[in-house]
Amino acid sequence: ISTRNPRHLLSIADLKPAELRDLIRNAAAHKAAIKSCTQSSAFRTALQGQTLGMIFQKRSTRTRVSTEGAIVAMGGHPIFLGASDIQLGKSESLRDTSIVLSGMLSSIIARVGPHRDIEELAKWSTVPVLNALSDRYHPFQAVTDLLTMAETRPSKSGPDLGLENLKIAWIGDPTNVLVDLAIGAMKLGIHVAVATPEEYKIPDDIRAIIQDAADSSPHPGTLIETTVPEDAVKDACFLINDTWTSMGQEEEKAKRTEAFRRYRITNELAKRGGADPDWKYMHCLPRYVEEVDDAVFYGPRSKVFEQSANRLWAAVSVINSFVVEKGHIEHVS
Ligand code: CP
Ligand code: NVA
Repeated sequence: ISTRNPRHLLSIADLKPAELRDLIRNAAAHKAAIKSCTQSSAFRTALQGQTLGMIFQKRSTRTRVSTEGAIVAMGGHPIFLGASDIQLGKSESLRDTSIVLSGMLSSIIARVGPHRDIEELAKWSTVPVLNALSDRYHPFQAVTDLLTMAETRPSKSGPDLGLENLKIAWIGDPTNVLVDLAIGAMKLGIHVAVATPEEYKIPDDIRAIIQDAADSSPHPGTLIETTVPEDAVKDACFLINDTWTSMGQEEEKAKRTEAFRRYRITNELAKRGGADPDWKYMHCLPRYVEEVDDAVFYGPRSKVFEQSANRLWAAVSVINSFVVEKGHIEHVS
């Protein structure tokens, strides 16, 4: 089962632009095949007899269910290893855990706190390590979000995924979800406007990583930063946000809720800022009501539940490419 130099997915930054495109296209292709029950028998048995481990140091609904579901769809067996299930962090190090699990598993899917924890797992693992969220990145979510955008704009589809020159607005906290989405956007030619309070701007080292993604793309997107939500929203086709208090930041909740108050997404904000007349709303979930009002969240512009369902297809695509195909990413149909 083990390979000597496995290819890991810790961030969208690990992908070439063409590979990211293929992961999104493949997610759409797997979705169509599975929904119409036309998936090949090779796909259905691709992970037969294989066990994949899921180290989750933080809680999860979507990521857990989508990755477990994807593994089962390919005939494999997931083992969920929650924070209190294994010796990790109590009497065993990340290094030893990674080596031990590599000896028995085909892949380690891990949700961790500090990003350095998943880097440590990847350093010692002889099987692919897939990031199920760290404090810095959330690649499964970014593939999902880009798939959802591509599906939402079929009439505007160009020669590619229909995403080139799209303008999107991120309003609020520049979280792990934004970071991988912005990296992906730079690779695919999407323009991202980010509105944050001055004291919650994108950190310099993260901005440099996003800029590197643009520099490595033949058709780069652009990153615009502002403190004014109305400015970010101007002409945007998607208005997106995330929680203002990510897992691990709970003790800062009151301070953050106050700092982000005027970054709430509402129909009035979209109107004041002059969003694209056909704008849509996205959120990775879970959502707190202060971030977006119900008129948007449950309204006709909201794509949030299509987006959460697409987590499954993104997981199928990533696990197929990184575990079955050993990191060789190419278009499946
Ligand atoms: N969006 C997302 O990752 O959700 P979960 O935390 O429920 O997995
Ligand atoms: N930024 C959030 C995303 C949850 C899916 C967090 O890290 O908690």
